[in-house]
Amino acid sequence: METIIGKSLIQAAQFLNNNQLVAIPTETVYGLAGNAFSSIAVQQIYAVKKRPLYNPLIVHIPNIQYLNTIAKNIPNNAYKLFEAFSPGPLTLLLSKKNIVPNIVTANLPHVAVRIPNHKLTLQLLNNLSFPLAAPSANLFGYISPTKPEHVFKQLHNQIPYILNGGACKSGIESTVVGFEKGIPVIYRLGAISKTQIETITGKCLLKNEVNNNAPISPGMIKYHYSPNTPLLLTNTVDATIQQLKKKKIGLISFNKSYETVKVKHKIVLSKKSSLAEAAKNIYAALHSMDELNVDVIVAELLPNKGIGIAVNEKLQKAGAKTTGL
Ligand code: TXA
Ligand code: MG
Repeated sequence: METIIGKSLIQAAQFLNNNQLVAIPTETVYGLAGNAFSSIAVQQIYAVKKRPLYNPLIVHIPNIQYLNTIAKNIPNNAYKLFEAFSPGPLTLLLSKKNIVPNIVTANLPHVAVRIPNHKLTLQLLNNLSFPLAAPSANLFGYISPTKPEHVFKQLHNQIPYILNGGACKSGIESTVVGFEKGIPVIYRLGAISKTQIETITGKCLLKNEVNNNAPISPGMIKYHYSPNTPLLLTNTVDATIQQLKKKKIGLISFNKSYETVKVKHKIVLSKKSSLAEAAKNIYAALHSMDELNVDVIVAELLPNKGIGIAVNEKLQKAGAKTTGL
């Protein structure tokens, strides 16, 4: 199957209406989308992504009114959060209605729902008679895609169409939030910070702060978002590089260019020291470095505040495979 990269909403809709998959742009990362009401389409998502069936998918909807079609018993705080942050990088876990096939939620009673903030994808959702189930459009475990070519690199010949919406604006995944007794609980850190959620709802917990034995969200798996090249994280770039003598190094730094440090390739995430810009660029930097044939990627951790916390967590997971350099 040849994969076309294009901007036609009509073509994208035709493929989706035929139970085929289309990669869609969002403000966070590209998604691998299929008809959320079709078990056949959803099965293909898991198969193409090589994702285990226990890891559920996010359902993308066009607007807040649509919530009632797929979810029930929606807590007040859910409406408040959606009104504050949607369309945007917020995913809520809500009690699912039967119309959502069990394969979408991996048999869990909750469905993950979000309204993506991207013009093309919102138009597409408005033209369709069903919502779109979509995980990030990367192969399971690999770096998430923030540009059409990242999707192409991983999934070409496996899907018919990539809807080209340019580079993703926020660049890291949505924040996944569930509710326990109406109180928001973050299952996955993302583009919206805990503090931002707290300004709307008051108290908000992180899942690992909740003391029970409920199954963890698969987004909490330890190895994730990983390049094939070993990845080392550091707060002290100079010292780390000195220890890696004789290695071909690719350096990803936050805001400084480390002029005196001799490495093969360098990428600075944000010369103006913006955490948002660094988040936008991090996956693209990992994709580029992974193609440059270096022995090791050294990435400088971001200041641990705001969206930097989520980016650092993604980096930790991306680097978790790397041992014994
Ligand atoms: O920004 C995003 O969220 C992107 C774009 C494409 O929307 N999507 C994305 O999907 O990151 P994915 O499948 O790569 O990650 C979804 C996360 C996973 O950690 C999954 O375990 C969790 O959401 N999740 C989905 N449904 C869930 C459910 N019913 N209960 C608990 N966790 C759920
Ligand atoms: Mg993902």
